[in-house]
Amino acid sequence: MNRIDVNLERVLAPIDPNLFGGFAEHLGRCIYGGVYDPDSPHAGPDGLRTDVLAALRRLQMPVIRYPGGNFVSGYRWRDGVGPRDARPARLDLAWGAPDSNHFGTNEFVQFCRQVGAEPYLVVNCGDGDMREARDWVEYCNGTADTALVRLRRAHGFDAPHNVQYWAVGNEVDGAWQIGHKTPEEYTRAYVEFAKVMRWVDPKIKLLASATSSWAPDFVERAQLLLEQASEHIDYMSVHWYVANHEDDFARYMAVSELIEARLRAYEGLIDALRLARRIKRPIPIAVDEWNVWYRAGIDTGLEEVYNLEDALAVAMHLNAFIRHARTVRMANLAQIVNVIAPILTRKDGLVLQTIFYPFELYRRTCGDAALDVFWSGETFDGGDYAGVRVLDVAASRGADGKRLTLYVVNRSLRPTEAVVALAEGRFAGSVTASVVNGPDIKTANTFDAPDNVGTHEATFDAADRELRYTFEPHSVTALVCPVAR
Ligand code: AHR
Repeated sequence: MNRIDVNLERVLAPIDPNLFGGFAEHLGRCIYGGVYDPDSPHAGPDGLRTDVLAALRRLQMPVIRYPGGNFVSGYRWRDGVGPRDARPARLDLAWGAPDSNHFGTNEFVQFCRQVGAEPYLVVNCGDGDMREARDWVEYCNGTADTALVRLRRAHGFDAPHNVQYWAVGNEVDGAWQIGHKTPEEYTRAYVEFAKVMRWVDPKIKLLASATSSWAPDFVERAQLLLEQASEHIDYMSVHWYVANHEDDFARYMAVSELIEARLRAYEGLIDALRLARRIKRPIPIAVDEWNVWYRAGIDTGLEEVYNLEDALAVAMHLNAFIRHARTVRMANLAQIVNVIAPILTRKDGLVLQTIFYPFELYRRTCGDAALDVFWSGETFDGGDYAGVRVLDVAASRGADGKRLTLYVVNRSLRPTEAVVALAEGRFAGSVTASVVNGPDIKTANTFDAPDNVGTHEATFDAADRELRYTFEPHSVTALVCPVAR
């Protein structure tokens, strides 16, 4: 029998809402044709797609990263501010396409305000310099009577944007990056960029580009950054994407073990360096770009069509982030619209992809404290991993301590029964089971059949220390349980 043991007192850490962040890049139809599309019948007066805004509001992303991604390593922020008709179109070498610059910093900040997200900007540490970076901070956040602040005001923004989150560079560890850097080159650049950006605005939070390739030098990169720049680092940013290249469901579902291994290794690395170098401040991890990505390349604008098994992979990520809430304090789903995204648009409408639903469900139901949960039972073998538990589990507790939310991904193609047992206290009333599922693991949502995969809900009463629940085959379930302690 599968068994899930929860102790409501064993709090791992507070859950940072920024675990539910997003990422928007000037790439394909993410910005132009996704977020911003003045020619769409759904465009508002500012050119933003009102249907996209409404869908994004359902995801309640607290933070959105912009403008790249690889794009940012050749970006000049000045090209994207001021009167639209005077903005220069530029060739973006990262993705090989022209960019009109009709959408830039101010449009992005306004877009964020409309979806309730904090804007998070990445500065160009590819072919850009620290002067540009510091000027961007001043343009956005400055209040003194300077040329850059006057410029922002002349562009119609009297009040500072107060952009809190700033990253120095994107995926600098990758040879594909414009301005790819060795560990030493990046650490040196990071210190200098960070110093002047913080001198402009001491309140900003800074993210260091730590690893995206997970090449063996990720250890050295972390070591140099933490030894030489820790006082300037608020987050260590890591990226990854997962895939089912082999069309092997068991192997794909076992990717949870890789996610665990990476998070455990990276948090161990930071802990070890903090101990060795007597770094007092905790330095959290930002999983700054993550998602499923393997089918769609640049020829199709990275427009992945997601199926149900991809939604399970997304839920396993969210479970891992909750379990690692002590160290993972930000995670940004890459990306938000059209490009490897939960939302796909056409001029006249949109479809909510399968991966939209677990994200929406977790964001809506997640408590503010991560609980240490122990579970055991049936296992499977997949890829490099043997004895992987069929259920993937995480748990959170609500602010008043009276609500437990249990997240369970059932990676079996059969119904899976489990006992959920509280160490103390009892279930106290109507439990809501919200289930993301569809007919088959390969099912996608399309414009012709947009509701193949979605969330359905049922309630049942529970009053004892234990309850039994049968998880649907290939499903993601959130059990929201009132509890008495
Ligand atoms: O999200 C797509 C791309 O993936 C980003 O531009 C880059 O940072 C990553 O390699």
